[in-house]
Amino acid sequence: MSEIHQNPETILAEIKDLLSLGVKDRKHAFHTPVFSNISNLNLPSSKTVVLRNFDEKKFKLYFHTDFRSKKIKDLEKNNNTYFLFYDPKIKIQLRIKTISLIHYKNKLTEKIWELMSLSSKKCYLTKKIPSSKTSIPEDGIPSYLKGVDPSKKESELGYKNFTIVENIIQNIDWLLLKSSGHRRLNINLENKSKKFNWTIP
Ligand SMILES: Cc1cc2nc3c(=O)[nH]c(=O)nc-3n(C[C@H](O)[C@H](O)[C@H](O)COP(=O)(O)O)c2cc1C
Repeated sequence: MSEIHQNPETILAEIKDLLSLGVKDRKHAFHTPVFSNISNLNLPSSKTVVLRNFDEKKFKLYFHTDFRSKKIKDLEKNNNTYFLFYDPKIKIQLRIKTISLIHYKNKLTEKIWELMSLSSKKCYLTKKIPSSKTSIPEDGIPSYLKGVDPSKKESELGYKNFTIVENIIQNIDWLLLKSSGHRRLNINLENKSKKFNWTIP
């Protein structure tokens, strides 16, 4: 067992490094976690998202989405959420409990939208609402934009759909798989405190 995995503080430091790497490195397993929320039918609803930012001081995770998507309606009713990360190379799983907040047409969305490429902004230009039925297989993007980026002016139409979901970390359940013996640590970060508990995997 590596030295760093004997000590809760060094495990937490490694978790922070991995989440930061997940934001920066598009090929890293932590770049595309599974995000789960509760649907309007009170059922779990899981989906892959791209990890766009990690605030390691305030313990917050961010991803982008379309304001018209189902998850936004669900989050407005119930913002108890979870992130699931697993990297098979290092055999570390993180189950992160979060509280989700929706940013729409505010200072944060303005700032991030300005930094986005035309091709990223294009995702927010679908005429039809995400999850709506369609008679043909299509992505919903207007046909004149097939294979090309929108102009700057066209891309701005997408801003009304652009949303950032901020997720405040409450709890991290860390699991390391090892043939010599698995290890599991629970890190509670609620109420600005930090409590570590070793648990049985
Ligand atoms: C690799 C990958 C990355 C994805 N990233 C995002 C994302 O960052 N934001 C998002 O809203 N959907 C993303 N999706 C699509 C979601 O998984 C999901 O299908 C979609 O958001 C609809 O979910 P909803 O009906 O619960 O709103 C991604 C899918 C994949 C496969």
